[in-house]
Amino acid sequence: METDTPLPVTAAVGERPPFGAMERLSPERLREEQQRTLASPRRRASLSAKALFKVMDLLYGEERTLPKFRVLELVARVPYQAWENVAYVAVTHTSRQPGFARRVFDKVRISRFEQDNEQWHLLILEELLHEHPERLGFVRHRLVPQVLAFGYYQLSWVMYAINPRWSYRLNADFEDHAEHEYALLVQEHPEWEDQPYEGSFTDDYGDYASLADLFRQVGYDERLHKLESEGRMEHSRFE
Ligand SMILES: [Fe+2]
Ligand SMILES: [Fe+2]
Repeated sequence: METDTPLPVTAAVGERPPFGAMERLSPERLREEQQRTLASPRRRASLSAKALFKVMDLLYGEERTLPKFRVLELVARVPYQAWENVAYVAVTHTSRQPGFARRVFDKVRISRFEQDNEQWHLLILEELLHEHPERLGFVRHRLVPQVLAFGYYQLSWVMYAINPRWSYRLNADFEDHAEHEYALLVQEHPEWEDQPYEGSFTDDYGDYASLADLFRQVGYDERLHKLESEGRMEHSRFE
């Protein structure tokens, strides 16, 4: 017999808000931070990051388009999934050192937060693309991105398991690239300043006066992901 009583875990989660933007900024700050990104030099990317950007350009063109950003977001989530997975296993093996296990578990939680944030980026892009009339090819826009994401997951997992610094560096390069690409994308679309964002994820990711501000916020999230990874590159394993 069906009742309206929620299952226990569902009830415990309740109305807790899902993770949205990393740090919500005012419209003024969003503009300032976009300018800061545009004025800042890019990181000197590692060979593996350069190879990934090249493959993306070859497959999806050098032009900044929403379908290309969708692929970028699909791939962007996977290092956080890989880190969560490796660190979760490590919690088990370090449980006899509670202090260390606790720090590793905090890393698991941060990876989940970052992963969820990238997930919102992806969902927002998916929805915006859905409103576009042209169809995206199945192989180039559905199948190949999954293959790219799978390969990137394996690479991130192995790097992180051997030496987390390698994986943090690759991710910092990737996030730096994303931050700059979003800042340029907004600059290339002055018409977005007057276009309201009316997607279905405003409860989760926030209300934005314009599409331009929405993408400025996404770009700022990418900056924070980059800074987190850069900071972790400086520290020892799992800390
Ligand atoms: Fe993202
Ligand atoms: Fe990102």
